[in-house]
Amino acid sequence: MNNKMEKIISLAKQRGFVFQSSEIYGGLKSAYDYGPLGVELKRNIMNEWWRSMVYEREDIVGIDASIIMHPKVWNASGHLSGFSDPLVDCLISKERFRADKAPNLEINDEIIIKCSDKGQAKQYQKDINNLFGILLRRNGKYLEGLRVINNTTFGFFENESDKALKTFNFNGYVSPTIGSPFLSEERQFNLMFRSQLGPVDSIGDIISFVKKNKDLNSKKLREGLEKIIKDTAVYLRPETAQAMFVQFLNCQQTMSMKIPFGIAQMGKSFRNEITTEHFIFRSCEFEQMEMEFFVEPGTQKKWLNYWRDKRLEWWKYYSNDPSKFIYRSHKKDELAHYADACYDIEYEYPWGYDELEGIASRTNYDLKKHSEYSGAKLSYFDPQKVDKKTGRNGLRYTPYVIEPAAGATRGLLVYLLDAYHEEIVKDAKGNDTLRKVMKFHPKLAPIKAAILPLVKKEGLPEIARKIVSNFTKSGINVKYDEQHAIGKRYRRHDEAGTPYCLTIDGKTKEDGSITIRDRNTMIQERIPADKALEIIKKKLNLF
Ligand code: GAP
Repeated sequence: MNNKMEKIISLAKQRGFVFQSSEIYGGLKSAYDYGPLGVELKRNIMNEWWRSMVYEREDIVGIDASIIMHPKVWNASGHLSGFSDPLVDCLISKERFRADKAPNLEINDEIIIKCSDKGQAKQYQKDINNLFGILLRRNGKYLEGLRVINNTTFGFFENESDKALKTFNFNGYVSPTIGSPFLSEERQFNLMFRSQLGPVDSIGDIISFVKKNKDLNSKKLREGLEKIIKDTAVYLRPETAQAMFVQFLNCQQTMSMKIPFGIAQMGKSFRNEITTEHFIFRSCEFEQMEMEFFVEPGTQKKWLNYWRDKRLEWWKYYSNDPSKFIYRSHKKDELAHYADACYDIEYEYPWGYDELEGIASRTNYDLKKHSEYSGAKLSYFDPQKVDKKTGRNGLRYTPYVIEPAAGATRGLLVYLLDAYHEEIVKDAKGNDTLRKVMKFHPKLAPIKAAILPLVKKEGLPEIARKIVSNFTKSGINVKYDEQHAIGKRYRRHDEAGTPYCLTIDGKTKEDGSITIRDRNTMIQERIPADKALEIIKKKLNLF
């Protein structure tokens, strides 16, 4: 794994940002828990998004819909038939992977199977011989002798020979870990998590079906069983978006919204991802911040560009290095079935540029489909417009939609990466030492200020607690901290990303002053203790 990612993962655990889910049981793959600092950081990111989308705009309203929706929603949206990844098994290592993410090989490329050690190479050499009747040449931990012949065939060749001793069907790619071309056929794997609502006994139905249909072949049996399960199935939402389409009329009518207007929602989404990767970048349970902006047909391009620029600006505002955020236009063959154009906002992660948010022009696809499947008339009547077809006042149409769809948990990873800094500084003895500091934007910082009595006696804790109480009464998250020497406490709060440390010392009792230490510059100055709240509010630009 990349060095910076390793550092972030380790700091995230040590400081309480992100833990592996169910760690004491060995962890659950691709599921994560947000710890005491992580939950604050995530909420701050999401609250900032909500503020910019809902509170600061008259043309957007919010909703909080249920995660389980009517199963027909996913029929109409196309998720039941189309939201799938091509899944393949390596017949040698048993690795299961996504075909579209696997390494491709060209005609005449050598196919070298790379095992983890000699023992594994010997075992795989034997397995391949048993399964396919060819003895590959072993070179240490590598197995050699295979080559791509054309797009659909690979062959086994003896040393120097141009003529294949045996040929096999080729998928065009090899398995990601060992590079094996011995693969199963591709199967479509739906990414939605399936469950059941209420006291449904599909196992009972399955038993009777199997008993009644003992003579069916595997394909027919599978079809029958799929039908039984599908008839009673509900799904965890794979995106928050669909509720905004389904509740379009309710929101528009109850809030008397006029086009253009938007509906925003943030919350959990679930995808049974085959490839989970890069820590919390791609996980099975994650949070999204999505907004569907309904516009008049013909104006979608203007609004697409508007939201692209707005959202890019938003991500940059909270970052230390705005140059790492870019946007990229989707090529025609990348577009989702519902989109006529799309931009990705990308961040330069340690492994390169990759997606952070998508801004899609979704046409009127979703409203039309939900109208068709539900029978509800999901359209908009504008009394100010003239219907060109009839020449009469008033125009009814199905709005087009621009959708900025961001990942909140992916955004948290981006801001962890952006905040992480290492600096060489002098310690108390004048020696060089490494300082790790999380330079979060103050609005995102989990703790806004640490209140630190220099010692745990002489009345200093009492003064410190009074200051803490002033802050918490104002709704500002500060932390009282008296554990360890002051230098160690400063370092702890540097790693937590706390913008300011307020220290109560002997002088406080004499003249009522305390020190304020700036996280980024480490400069300390004295301020009156009774002005601390006002000064921090001003510095953080909080109210
Ligand atoms: N409604 C459109 C939609 O959901 P998407 O591009 O599939 O579009 C939007 O998802 C954003 O959600 C992505 O840009 C990404 O930030 C986040 N996201 C999607 N799948 C994710 C996953 N498995 N883990 C973490 N974040 C994910």
